[in-house]
Amino acid sequence: MNTDMIEAHELSKHYGDLHAVRGVSFEVKAGEIFGILGPNGAGKTTTLEMLEALRRIDSGSARVAGHDVSREPDAVKRAIGVQIQSAAFFDKVRLEELLSFALSVYHVRGVTPRDLLARVQLSEKARSYPEQLSGGQLQRFSIAMAIAHAPEMLFLDEPTTGLDPQARRNTWDLIRELRDDGITILLTTHYMDEAEFLCDRLAIMDKGSIVALDSPAGLVEQLLDTGFTRTQEVRPATLDDVFIHLTGKELRD
Ligand SMILES: Nc1ncnc2c1ncn2[C@@H]1O[C@H](COP(=O)(O)OP(=O)(O)O)[C@@H](O)[C@H]1O
Ligand SMILES: [Mg+2]
Repeated sequence: MNTDMIEAHELSKHYGDLHAVRGVSFEVKAGEIFGILGPNGAGKTTTLEMLEALRRIDSGSARVAGHDVSREPDAVKRAIGVQIQSAAFFDKVRLEELLSFALSVYHVRGVTPRDLLARVQLSEKARSYPEQLSGGQLQRFSIAMAIAHAPEMLFLDEPTTGLDPQARRNTWDLIRELRDDGITILLTTHYMDEAEFLCDRLAIMDKGSIVALDSPAGLVEQLLDTGFTRTQEVRPATLDDVFIHLTGKELRD
């Protein structure tokens, strides 16, 4: 049996002259939390959008949940949940109504908006409007929307960017719970602590290419194998060191 939920093979994408994704290959196993860690502009969102059948693949191929993304985009979309980087909801519609709409679009039976709200700890907000939610609550709500149709696979694009430390940790707990419920997760982040805490394996992406792929601990070991030493050895090498070693110190916007 094939247990890879995602097989990406030499994915490539151009925007005009810009080669935004340059032959990216990786697999995501069923049941894992896989991270793509990279600075701004690395090509993370473009990679996700190609896998989600939202953006055309220029060259290369991908299978998601057993379906070829280019040939069977509708089957892929049914199998996955997608939380986009800046989700926008109708501000004058209550949360339970938005979820009710999502459940009816997907013809989901036996699940209520209240069930979904309970799953993301927003039960008391059923009658609130999106504009009344904090950043963390809005993020959890967008996850509830993304899992309404019980997808096998969930894509999260920078799920905690802009959240305060408590809301970030709360979102991390939710992501782990979803994985424990059997949902495979592919997320992007530029936070080392997040990658280290959440991801079973992670790909470090820079300038359109994957420059390393391993477990967080494996990446640190690989760095130490290169003979890397800190100038001030007050603590062992961390994922931060790996990231800077591989992607450099130059500022990205
Ligand atoms: N629709 C687009 N048109 C032109 N260039 C784009 C478009 N989307 C992204 N880019 C460019 O492609 C590169 C990769 O972007 P993106 O995939 O959003 O990276 P990341 O998510 O890692 O920040 C960046 O240089 C970005 O400016
Ligand atoms: Mg992005």
